[in-house]
Formats: sequence, C-alpha cells, structure tokens
Amino acid sequence: MARTPVVARTLPALHRALDKIRARNARVALVPTMGALHEGHLTLVRQAKRRCEKVVVSIFVNPTQFAPHEDFSTYPRTWKTDLAKLADEKVDLIWNPDVKTMYPDGFATRISCEGPAIADLEDRYRPHFFGGVATVVGKLFIQCKPDVAVFGQKDFQQLRVVTQMARDLDLGVKVVGIPTVRERDGLAMSSRNVYLSPEERRIAPTLYRTMKDCARQLRDGGDLKTAMAEGAAAISNAGFALDYFEARHADTLAPIASLSEGPIRFLVAAKIGTTRLIDNIGV
Ligand code: PAF
Repeated sequence: MARTPVVARTLPALHRALDKIRARNARVALVPTMGALHEGHLTLVRQAKRRCEKVVVSIFVNPTQFAPHEDFSTYPRTWKTDLAKLADEKVDLIWNPDVKTMYPDGFATRISCEGPAIADLEDRYRPHFFGGVATVVGKLFIQCKPDVAVFGQKDFQQLRVVTQMARDLDLGVKVVGIPTVRERDGLAMSSRNVYLSPEERRIAPTLYRTMKDCARQLRDGGDLKTAMAEGAAAISNAGFALDYFEARHADTLAPIASLSEGPIRFLVAAKIGTTRLIDNIGV
C-alpha cells in the first residue's frame, strides 16, 4: 500500500515539514489545487516530480475567488479519494489549511493584478476572480517558498496572471504551465465536469471541437474574423450560452487580428445548463 503523505493543517506544521525537506537540500515543487482531483491534477503532480525532488500539493477551496452567487458551498470536496490519489503518486506533503488559517479574523489584504488580469476575458464575467486567486496563490508561495509551481494551461488567463505576479513581486518561484489533459472525446478535464447531466456531457466537447475546426480553417488560409464568427455560432447552436470565444496573443492576451501578428490562443467560456466551462488551445 502507498505511504500516506504528511498532511499539514496549520502553519507551524507546514513549516516543520518544509524545514525537514529543506534540511536535505531538496528542491520543492508546489501544485496548488482546490481538491476534487482528477487525472489533470495528477499530471501536474507527475510534472512537478520531474522538476524537483519533493512535491507539495495544496488543497484549499479558496472562498475569495468565488462570487456570492457562485458554487463555493457546493464545490466538490472529495478529501478521502484525493488523499488516496496523492498517496499513489507518492506526494511528499499536502498543505490543507482551513479558511480561518488562510484568512484569520481581521484579514484585510488583497493582491490586485493588472496586465493579463484585465484582458477582458474571465475578468469581464468574474471580476472578483483574479484578486482572489492572486491573493491565495501569493500566500501559498510565501508559505511554501517553492522553487517551482505547476499550474494547468486549462485556466490560461490564470496561468498568465500568476506568472506575472510571481515575477512582479520577486517571489523567487518558477511558474510552469502544463498542457490541458482531455477526456477521449476532447473535453478538458475539470472538477466541475461532475455537474454536467448526461446530455450536457455529450454536448460539452463541442467547445474543443469548434476551436480545433477554427484553428484548421485559419491554418488553411481562412479569415480569422469569419472563422471566429462561425465558431461562435456553432457553440451557440449546440446549446451553449456563450460568454466569449476570442483569439488573443498567446503571450500578452491582447486581441489579435491575424496569424501574422503573433502566436494565437483561442479562449472560450460558455454555459451549458447551469455549468460554466472554459477551455483554450494554441493555434
Ligand atoms: O486553479 C485552481 O484550482 C485555483 O484557482 C488555484 C490556483 C488552486 C487557486 O485557488
């Protein structure tokens, strides 16, 4: 049976465990998560292991990145299976603080990001989101002092925001983005996929398929504006309420009008039933 990883739930316990690791001069990789772990998260863990001798996974459902009408209270919490999966992956340490430990009474600080955080993508629909993410990830970086932090590219704007923040605040951590892990039919793995009804689950891969079709059209010399308009129509016709389907510069997230202007990233967010899905691909 796999050895259960050390679980720290208080800051002194975290620092004791990290001191032991550091005493052996081991490099540390952090994989920040909100639990409800799936193959996508486990891929991040495996990538973390390739980069550092020791891997810390944080599991914390962060209330400050949810708006009051969002799913903080119902977000899937699957501690026992998460623990078993991380034991199988031979993770060294799990950082699992509670809300009071992360945000003690009187907590009054929020990291406010610009640049990629105000690219008019997720921020337009979830204005609270990147402040909450940057604040908690900033805290996780300060608490764990990792050499490397591993994030999925599925939350592409989040990856850009966190990378920028780590650089701007001299947090001394190398942020690494790992390609999205997909189901066999192309749906990006996400903890929120459990919300989908069977019919919604059948339709959900339309997002990925449409992005791939648009990318192909573009590479074959098609016009970007036309491809995006047709893609948006395909997504809506499949039954989604589309928030955005955008072509952006892959590095800056600035709007982009043609392939010649730089590497393009397609980014999409759409609701199917009550579930909001996001995805993106490089062109
Ligand atoms: O991507 C996530 O799961 C979360 O936004 C993160 C980075 C763990 C911060 O809470």
